[in-house]
Amino acid sequence: MDVKGKVAVVTGAAGGIGFALSKALLAAGAKGVAMADLQADMLAASAGKIGGLAVPTDVTDEAAIVALLDKAEAELGPVDLFVSNAGISPKPVRDDNAHWHQQWNVHVMAHMYAARAAAPRMAARGGGKLVNTASAAGILMQVNSAVYTATKHAAVGLAEWLSVEWGPKGVSVAVVCPLRVATPMTENTPDSGTVRDGVMSADEAAAVIMAGIADDRFMIFTHPPAGAYWAKKAADPDRWIEGMTRLKQKLRGAAAD
Ligand SMILES: NC(=O)c1ccc[n+]([C@@H]2O[C@H](COP(=O)([O-])OP(=O)(O)OC[C@H]3O[C@@H](n4cnc5c(N)ncnc54)[C@H](O)[C@@H]3O)[C@@H](O)[C@H]2O)c1
Repeated sequence: MDVKGKVAVVTGAAGGIGFALSKALLAAGAKGVAMADLQADMLAASAGKIGGLAVPTDVTDEAAIVALLDKAEAELGPVDLFVSNAGISPKPVRDDNAHWHQQWNVHVMAHMYAARAAAPRMAARGGGKLVNTASAAGILMQVNSAVYTATKHAAVGLAEWLSVEWGPKGVSVAVVCPLRVATPMTENTPDSGTVRDGVMSADEAAAVIMAGIADDRFMIFTHPPAGAYWAKKAADPDRWIEGMTRLKQKLRGAAAD
């Protein structure tokens, strides 16, 4: 998709990757970007800096996603691109059920709500695009977090399904699978074995995502090693599990030092 003149919605846009992407979209000539986030004050300040439209939104609330889309269309025009990017930090394996439900709602249901609201409108107008931020944890694993691993895998599966369903109707779908990006989310998150693959800035990650949007690629890896790891996993899952087991033990050892 050529984003010039297009209207976009970006969730999780108060900071991190969502803010960087909103900025990149406007710099590339997007007509307008509706920026959504739970953190209303930070969102207003971020949107003010770049000329985005701040729309405080809880993406786990389906009615709020519809209201976000309505507001974006009323203020900016028909939405061509919906980026579901909001996310929450990985937490350790012994998380309680409330946290599992919250991660499921933010990482999976929010993507479903966006597709349900936006894709039919886009298709009726001749086309559009959904971009869902998952994670490399969605094709590989986050060795420190069961819930992040499981919900991001679900996000990738959902994006695949949406692509097959909506692609023929003119709505293309992309899924973004970053390794480590320096954002508020990762500030206090221990290394899960990805630091060795390079830590990108949010602006660098946004530039790669913009290129993936321009090329209409389904799978957008911000860090090239993610694709190579994915191929290795598919080629020999048992060997891959052994490798991840060793990595987790090594990280535990480092944490105990
Ligand atoms: N930073 C990384 O290393 C990394 C790696 C892989 C994937 N990701 C994914 O990238 C996306 C962006 O993360 P980031 O690193 O920029 O983190 P971030 O914490 O800077 O941004 C995430 C934003 O989502 C918002 N948010 C959380 N719950 C919300 C809700 N219910 N409704 C609306 N907004 C909500 C937060 O307020 C926050 O501003 C997330 O989906 C994350 O899982 C990040």
